[in-house]
Amino acid sequence: MLVSGLDKRSNLCYSILFSLRGGIQTKEEQMLFDIVKERLKNEEGCLNYIEKLRVTNVGDCLKKISFSNSDTALAKAAEITRYILRVLTDNGFNFLDTMDPCHGVGHFVRSYINTRLLLSLDPLVEPADVFLTYISAVLHDVGRCFVPPVGENRLAVPHSWAGAIVIDELFKLDACHLSAEARQLVSFAIGGHQWSVKPRVVLSEGGATRVIESFPVEDPHGKLYKFFWLVRCVDRLDGNGSTIIGRDFLHAYNEIGRADFAEYLSVFLEPHPREKNLRVPGSETLIEGLYRLATTQNNSSPYSRHDFGNMIHICQVQTWRLLLVLNAVQHPEIATPSSVKRTMSRQTRDWLTRSIDPSKNGQVAARVMLDHLDAMPDRVRLAWLSGFNQARWLYSEWSIEARHCLDQIPLDDLYLRLRRGTEYCVLDILA
Ligand SMILES: [Fe+2]
Ligand SMILES: [Fe+2]
Repeated sequence: MLVSGLDKRSNLCYSILFSLRGGIQTKEEQMLFDIVKERLKNEEGCLNYIEKLRVTNVGDCLKKISFSNSDTALAKAAEITRYILRVLTDNGFNFLDTMDPCHGVGHFVRSYINTRLLLSLDPLVEPADVFLTYISAVLHDVGRCFVPPVGENRLAVPHSWAGAIVIDELFKLDACHLSAEARQLVSFAIGGHQWSVKPRVVLSEGGATRVIESFPVEDPHGKLYKFFWLVRCVDRLDGNGSTIIGRDFLHAYNEIGRADFAEYLSVFLEPHPREKNLRVPGSETLIEGLYRLATTQNNSSPYSRHDFGNMIHICQVQTWRLLLVLNAVQHPEIATPSSVKRTMSRQTRDWLTRSIDPSKNGQVAARVMLDHLDAMPDRVRLAWLSGFNQARWLYSEWSIEARHCLDQIPLDDLYLRLRRGTEYCVLDILA
């Protein structure tokens, strides 16, 4: 049977998962997900776990994790991450089928790449931080397998906390051979990877209100937990640059039912974004959200205040790319030559489904969202397509740079497997 280019590509993507398969499932691996699901159903138990986790004595745990050098730490981290991915896949949870388009295989592969770029050649990062950052950053959205984004704000347990619990259970498998301290710190980093600096107010099942403070980023003496911060950095690098307009556009698929959906997609950037106090609370448009992201990547923002080492430069370049994309949205008539206008819609669809999220969910979201965009007024439609057009070029630039940097560093077993099994998939994400 003939398959279309996209279907063929999607099939090739699936080999990313098959390449991670291997060995026979043990009984404890098979039973693991029933245990995880039961544990997640018990909200009070989850909240108790998170409250204990957030007061982890990070300094004491760190003292008990030692590697002779960063290469050894990387190799061990790659081995454990690959094993965890294999167990997830064998249990039917993966980054292709079970994730929403914003957090699917594209975000996963770019998080892997950004982790390697961020950790490469940075003398400020100790081997123990390398080890913890690698596992936690590559797997940071593992909780999304269980917590979809729709209505997440109303849930007691968001995906970051669910992720800490999932990883806590996965690490109980004998094959992990991880010390209790390493397990605790990876759960700590995944549990605290979301950016909120405010406490989370949770209405528990009994009707009582429970306030859970955000995770600390430094010890009582002001010393930064580097591995913890770096996990947030990896996530932020894919929530910035040329990528985020595509990811957020696909994410908006989850918002289609809202009454103000057309307004949410409209463009308010001219002549400048609306002041926050002139908006109805919660009415931030998608483009205004991107502008907010671009203007908080600096040391005066709590989201970026502790950036150090490679992150400073990489993040600045990503922010510059996002500002160029927003400029193209704001000035489509200048940024978009008339010669490319006719093909922008098709090129946008290809970019979204090949590079931003080459999963089945990504393809569905891209088709539906582009249909919605087609129904928008010409001015709004052209503004979006102009932004995507700019983003595509900048994404290619990022991709070339990323490949060049990856060529300079020792590649680990996980990357070799991703690449061998899914040449087309990885090459497209790095297109
Ligand atoms: Fe996340
Ligand atoms: Fe993420």
